[in-house]
Amino acid sequence: MENQKNKPLRNQTAIVTGASSGIGQAIAIALGKAGANVAVNYHGDEVGADKTKEEIQNHGSKAITIKGDVSEKEEVEQLFLKTTDELGNIHILINNAGIQQDEPFKDMKAESWDQVIRTNLYGAFYCAQQAARIFIKQGMDNTLSKAKGKIIFISSVHDTIPWAGRVNYAASKGGLLTLMQSLAQELAPEKIRVNNISPGAIKTPINEDDWKDENRKKALLAKIPYGRIGEPEDVAKAVVWLASDDADYITGTTLYVDGGMTLYPSFLEE
Ligand code: NAI
Ligand code: BGC
Repeated sequence: MENQKNKPLRNQTAIVTGASSGIGQAIAIALGKAGANVAVNYHGDEVGADKTKEEIQNHGSKAITIKGDVSEKEEVEQLFLKTTDELGNIHILINNAGIQQDEPFKDMKAESWDQVIRTNLYGAFYCAQQAARIFIKQGMDNTLSKAKGKIIFISSVHDTIPWAGRVNYAASKGGLLTLMQSLAQELAPEKIRVNNISPGAIKTPINEDDWKDENRKKALLAKIPYGRIGEPEDVAKAVVWLASDDADYITGTTLYVDGGMTLYPSFLEE
């Protein structure tokens, strides 16, 4: 068993949405390693969620899995209720669940627009609202953290880089930017910190078509000045720090974890 004493998030409880794969899975495990007990939300992949749970437990933290669709308000309410029942007070929300449904704009079905916005934006709204209400109701516990609660949205470089053929996705992430900023402003007097982490290209199932094919991988790498595709752990480490008291004065900010993708890489050639 690892020594829990000096872990930055010890005795705090976190909810991570979409934590059965990719970035969410890495975040949930990293939070567990940092001492947090974790509610692992998943949509369909129970096996993946169990793997996340097991790895968190291997680090000496508690973990539970909770099935739930973040785009359904009642299921989000249940997610928070079950977490409180089983793990006690909640201190950290990582709003990670997200989908892409790429279609050229002229052919884009209203369903594709709807599903992406419902998952990526309504999901964020429902989860953050539950978290804000609970953090305020619970009040401050200075023995655990300097903040009443921390909300981190996993946005994307496409909250600022336009993305042809994926206007639904880019609109959802653009929406997350001002949702986060406005919420951070509103909740700062309550001592609740709200921030975004916006990853660039990270190797996960969401973009496997782009890194499994050698030609597409080359094209993707050309957009990343730092010269490598990111790993889910690159994002997870940033999340742990942002959720900890080491980042106590940080709210309303976006941290781009993108190997420089937002730095207009095509100008490198000049
Ligand atoms: P992923 O496909 O492995 O993860 C998405 C997760 O969300 C899955 O576990 C999925 O089951 C879950 N999910 C989907 N719909 C859900 C719903 N209605 N309710 C609950 N969970 C649901 O892909 P990845 O890359 O790990 O994506 C995680 C987040 O990171 C997403 O928000 C994505 O937009 C964002 N992101 C990913 C980047 C990448 O390059 N991989 C870059 C920038 C942002
Ligand atoms: C998308 C990935 C893409 C990355 C960089 C993310 O938001 O989900 O598919 O590789 O942005 O463009």
